[in-house]
Amino acid sequence: MKTMIASIIAAMGLMMAGVSIAADMPDVAKKNNCTSCHAIDKKVVGPGWQDVADKYKGDAGAAEKLGTVIVKGGRGVWGPMPMPATSKITDAEVSEIVAFILGLAK
Ligand code: HEC
Repeated sequence: MKTMIASIIAAMGLMMAGVSIAADMPDVAKKNNCTSCHAIDKKVVGPGWQDVADKYKGDAGAAEKLGTVIVKGGRGVWGPMPMPATSKITDAEVSEIVAFILGLAK
């Protein structure tokens, strides 16, 4: 029981660290290859996700808009490079990534 409580506390600590520091890409982004074109704090091929979060801050439709871009691809928002559609991504994974990105907004 004691170990279980300890691991719950540890997990909560990790979650809070993810919100406030967010230094690393989530596994779901690595798994779907987002990391080959995106980083959090800088532009790679696509925009840094911190910049994406700041751009859509306060936009009530942002989650839906970004979810569509992630699934179908997008172009013309950040520069001449288009973002490709993502194959084989589940709705749950899309929601998880969108929540992560929008959660970066300061
Ligand atoms: C081949 C490179 C590449 C991959 C792989 C890629 N992206 Fe992108 N992404 C881009 C580019 C380039 C843009 C800028 C498109 C534009 O200007 O509209 C972009 C834009 C975005 C945006 C901002 C969209 C907007 O309209 O403002 C989000 C969010 C995003 N990508 C998330 C993801 C996620 C999540 C994944 C993985 C599932 C992913 N990207 C994989 C290249 C990529």
